[in-house]
Amino acid sequence: MEETREKEFVAMPRIGDKAPSFTAKSTQGVINFPEDYKGHWVILFSHPADFTPVCTSEFMTFANMEKQYEEANCKLIGLSVDGLYSHIAWLRTIKDKIEYKGMKNIEVKFPLIDDVSMNVANKYGMIQPGEAATQAVRAVFYIDPEGTIRTIIYYPLSIGRNFDELYRVLIALKTTDEFACAAPADWRPGDEVIVPPAGSCGVAEQRMSASDPGVTCHDWFFCTKKLSKEEVLKKVLKK
Ligand code: BEZ
Repeated sequence: MEETREKEFVAMPRIGDKAPSFTAKSTQGVINFPEDYKGHWVILFSHPADFTPVCTSEFMTFANMEKQYEEANCKLIGLSVDGLYSHIAWLRTIKDKIEYKGMKNIEVKFPLIDDVSMNVANKYGMIQPGEAATQAVRAVFYIDPEGTIRTIIYYPLSIGRNFDELYRVLIALKTTDEFACAAPADWRPGDEVIVPPAGSCGVAEQRMSASDPGVTCHDWFFCTKKLSKEEVLKKVLKK
């Protein structure tokens, strides 16, 4: 079994690839992806199974943050290989019965895809047999308004995702796009950003440059610039 798995090569989407298209049933009706999501950022994420504790804590947290994602023009789509009736019953149980870390009456309004066929999960490399052959791992795909995959994060079955980090990555992606800069370790809005070295080419008219006032160069290859939280949020929220 181990040996067979080692020889299996499965095509998985990568950062920079166009997100695979699909049509799927969900708790909010049929989804035609990417057509239905034109002009929006999308976080497509998978979870192993309905009616499991880690997944429940994750869904409650995501649902609790949905407004924040809306403000950042980002739609959430969940997926597991369970069926629609299981999804509906699980989400109803969460709303009616589960109180966790001060969250209660949590209504999951974003769609949860029924992927019993594993059609979507397989297209996105969410089934990773070394971890589980019959359940999706905890995958997170960030897809931009042009339908390009911009970040992929995987967690194993046993560990719930860090939702501060998931949101931070979205804001960092939008900020680095808007200001043509890069985000250093642990970057958060209000922290300095990385400015491309002088002489490198760029497209955005607001592209930062090492010769701009306010740039600090720690060495020729490592220059940073202040970028206020207000400037960042003004650009990346509601866009
Ligand atoms: C959970 O969500 O609690 C879970 C799901 C699958 C395997 C392990 C934990």
